[in-house]
Amino acid sequence: MRQVLIATSNPGKLRDFAGAALRHGIEITGIPGFSSLPPVVEDGLTFEANARKKAEEYSHYVPGKIVVADDSGLEVDALSGAPGVHSARYAAPELQNKEPHEADANTDDEANNARLLRELKSVPPAKRSGRFVCVLAAAREGETLATFRGTAEGIILEAPQGTNGFGYDPLFYFPQIKKTFAELSSEEKANYSHRGAAFRQFLRWCDADENVYSGSTPAQI
Ligand code: IMP
Repeated sequence: MRQVLIATSNPGKLRDFAGAALRHGIEITGIPGFSSLPPVVEDGLTFEANARKKAEEYSHYVPGKIVVADDSGLEVDALSGAPGVHSARYAAPELQNKEPHEADANTDDEANNARLLRELKSVPPAKRSGRFVCVLAAAREGETLATFRGTAEGIILEAPQGTNGFGYDPLFYFPQIKKTFAELSSEEKANYSHRGAAFRQFLRWCDADENVYSGSTPAQI
């Protein structure tokens, strides 16, 4: 079976990716010893830059294999695209007294959501549009082969709704189904989410691309 390695320590992400990939004859696994590898600094200005950087750097540890990395976040129009690439550290000014790009660690979801609500306090419902974005990069031996971008358009609510999911899900209302992402099961969310959309593009690329190889034989481009 064709094999793709995902650069993540998040077992939830791995499971989501693995289930969808199996139907395309692709085996998804983590990178062996991922948690003990030196972390890649996500200092890119775009989701693409961070996803490529992670995929390229981690692919050096598994020569010949295709490594996929993702970067994702929430862009809010009324905030000129913030929190964007800083979504995971948006509450750093309150919690660490640092700007998100200088933060030492991710800040917790509750604090990030609280900051988002504060920043949008005076913004009326009609102007609370935004989107989740996910970019996947596939790399081999330090070189990006392709990137895939998925988005989900929604509205930022004035109060959380729903208890599933993670991150900004309880504030992200998806008009198409009149629910927030936190009111969906993980299977339902994958049908509509930015991550699901990007991953389906990746799978189509795998299906179409003869260079995605079988087993452990390095591919020839
Ligand atoms: P990462 O790409 O896993 O580092 O995610 C970046 C941050 O974006 C997360 O910590 C969340 O705050 C936010 N985010 C990304 N995807 C989602 C999602 O599907 N739901 C809610 N928040 C998300």
